[in-house]
Amino acid sequence: MKIGVFDSGLGGLIITKSFLRELGDYDYLYFGDTKNLPYGDKISSEVLMLSIRAVEFLIKNNCKIIIFACNTASSIALRYVQQIYIPQYYPNIKVLGVIVPTVEEAIASSKKKIGVTATNSTINSHIYNIEIKKINPDIKVQELATPKLVPAIENDDFILADSLVQDYVKSFSNIDSIILGCTHYPLLKECFRKYLPEKVQVISQDEFMGEKLKKYLHNHPEIETKLTKNAEREFLVSQKNKYYEAVAGKIISGIKIKEVKI
Ligand code: DGL
Repeated sequence: MKIGVFDSGLGGLIITKSFLRELGDYDYLYFGDTKNLPYGDKISSEVLMLSIRAVEFLIKNNCKIIIFACNTASSIALRYVQQIYIPQYYPNIKVLGVIVPTVEEAIASSKKKIGVTATNSTINSHIYNIEIKKINPDIKVQELATPKLVPAIENDDFILADSLVQDYVKSFSNIDSIILGCTHYPLLKECFRKYLPEKVQVISQDEFMGEKLKKYLHNHPEIETKLTKNAEREFLVSQKNKYYEAVAGKIISGIKIKEVKI
């Protein structure tokens, strides 16, 4: 059985790459719901419905564990999927997200104030604020929706993305770390580093999610032993456009992406 990775688009490939780095032997199935991108501007019920559909697809295609690489889906749909949907219909399947591991990482390198950048939906859910406060109620959190970044990246326009980051970061004051709370933002982490004061730690999911999954599998042999290890990778999207191969190839070189109807 495989490791399934779900994102609204191609950004989740960045996290997948960190899985491949740490856990290269396993078999993977990636699904990016590009037809419905962006999730970040959708109402919650739609994100939930699309996330469940993606989970169903990945389970039907032999995934034993599914990671929501998408921050928006993790913010809006993960709790329901983990606590209600999966226990009821697929009790042998595990679904994980990116929010809690990211919060743990941010708290480890931040004492006073954490900045969060993400899509509109993730910011409006206040999930990062809630999860940070659960661990340390004294840490201040400043959240900022940065919705123009995903379209710029998906269109391979990194000049625009750079200037957007320059502008967005002006809103933050006195933060000691910043969470890049969106699958796509690791591609811009150098821009964030460039435009933020040097003391600000940039928390980028590509740098630790692989290690976190490795630890998780180590601690859960009941899942790990069911996973096959033929280093097979399949990358599927619900709709392809002319930029995708170029954008995806910047993340995982030589990648082949197929369109699938789900
Ligand atoms: N994958 C989404 C996230 O991480 C960003 C793209 C979108 O809005 O769908 O929040």
